[in-house]
Parts: sequence; C-alpha cells; structure tokens
Amino acid sequence: MDLTLRPAGPDDARFLAEMLAEAMAWRPGAPRPSVSDVRRSRYVVGWPRDGDRGVVAEVRQPDVAGDVRNAARTGEQLGAAWYRVMTADDPGYGFIDTEIPEITIGVVPPWRGRGVGRRLLSALLDAARAEGHDALSLSVEEDNFALHLYESVGFRTVEKVGNAWTMMAPLL
Ligand SMILES: CC(C)(COP(=O)(O)OP(=O)(O)OC[C@H]1O[C@@H](n2cnc3c(N)ncnc32)[C@H](O)[C@@H]1OP(=O)(O)O)[C@@H](O)C(=O)NCCC(=O)NCCS
Repeated sequence: MDLTLRPAGPDDARFLAEMLAEAMAWRPGAPRPSVSDVRRSRYVVGWPRDGDRGVVAEVRQPDVAGDVRNAARTGEQLGAAWYRVMTADDPGYGFIDTEIPEITIGVVPPWRGRGVGRRLLSALLDAARAEGHDALSLSVEEDNFALHLYESVGFRTVEKVGNAWTMMAPLL
C-alpha cells in the first residue's frame, strides 16, 4: 500500500479530533469520547492556531493486489500527528514550557502496526526542525507501547505524572 503524507490544514479539524479521540481511548476496551466533545479539547480547538503544524497520512495508491483487511481507497485518511504550543494557563498533559510544542498522534485502528505512526512522527519532527523549534514534548501512559516508538525516534522521559510519562525530543 502506497501512502502519502501532507500538511494538515483547516479542513482536517474533524479528522484530527477523531485521532485525538483514538489517542484518548488507546487502551483496549476504553470508551471512545465523542468527536463533538473532543473538538472542544485544548489539543484541537480552533485548529489551526498560529504555530500549529500537523501531518496527515492518506492512501495514495491502494494495493493493486487488493487488501482484503482494509479495502483502502485513494485519499482515505489513515492517521495524523500534530503539535501545538500550549500555555501555562491551559497546559497539556505533556506540557514542559511555552517554547516546546506538544504532540498528539493517532492512527485509525485497521492501519495500526503497519508503519504509519512512525512515518507521521518522523515527518512531524522534520516539520518542527524546519520551523526552528528546539524540542517537542508529549505525554504517554507508562503501559502504552507507543512509549517505545517515541524513544526510537529520539524522545526521552522527563517526568512521571501519575501513570504517564512526559517525554521530550531535542531537535538540534
Ligand atoms: C500509537 C500509534 C500512533 C502508533 O502508530 P502505528 O502506525 O500503529 O505504529 P507503527 O506501525 O509505526 O509501529 C511503530 C513501532 O511500534 C511497534 N508496534 C506497533 N504496534 C504495536 C503493538 N500493538 N504492540 C507493541 N508494539 C507495537 C511496531 O513494531 C513498531 O516498532 P518497529 O518499527 O521497531 O517494528 C497507533 O498505534 C495509535 O494510534 N494507537 C492508539 C492511539 C495512541 O495510543 N496514541 C498515542 C497516545 S500517547
């Protein structure tokens, strides 16, 4: 399956909210919040605000051999990763300071474990470097396998808050 990555724009606000809902309900069996509730979250409300950057993964070319499991269509959205500068007044779970934007990432369930998340993260780190950021942060619960994915692209644990790690990736 051939996928493409493109910048997230204003029309992607709903999809980003859907991916935020996936991230919030990452634990198997956890209730998935409604997209309308999630759209008010600090991670997506008003998308895009100044300084926001994101990447959306889409199907460029469905597998010609046919993908029975996923029946991909050209342009189908597979996942998104984005960052937002948070404020000290309304910090995210992974807030470190106002100079370090915080990441959110989600991949639609049928496409997980197929390299989409790694490609999204890598592209987002490149975008942050191009924007001149020194670092990005995130929050991940200690038992989410995503912690190891984040470590593999350069994030390091900074602080434990409850059962979640705040992580930071230096970009210099
Ligand atoms: C976390 C998430 C974004 C990762 O994206 P993905 O496309 O599934 O991940 P990838 O296929 O790029 O895999 C990345 C690495 O994680 C590993 N991995 C993938 N799924 C895994 C699983 N279920 N259990 C353990 N490891 C797993 C892969 O083996 C890969 O490592 P490798 O490259 O060394 O082989 C995606 O699974 C997701 O949306 N999960 C639910 C929401 C969530 O947890 N968001 C993050 C909240 S902090």
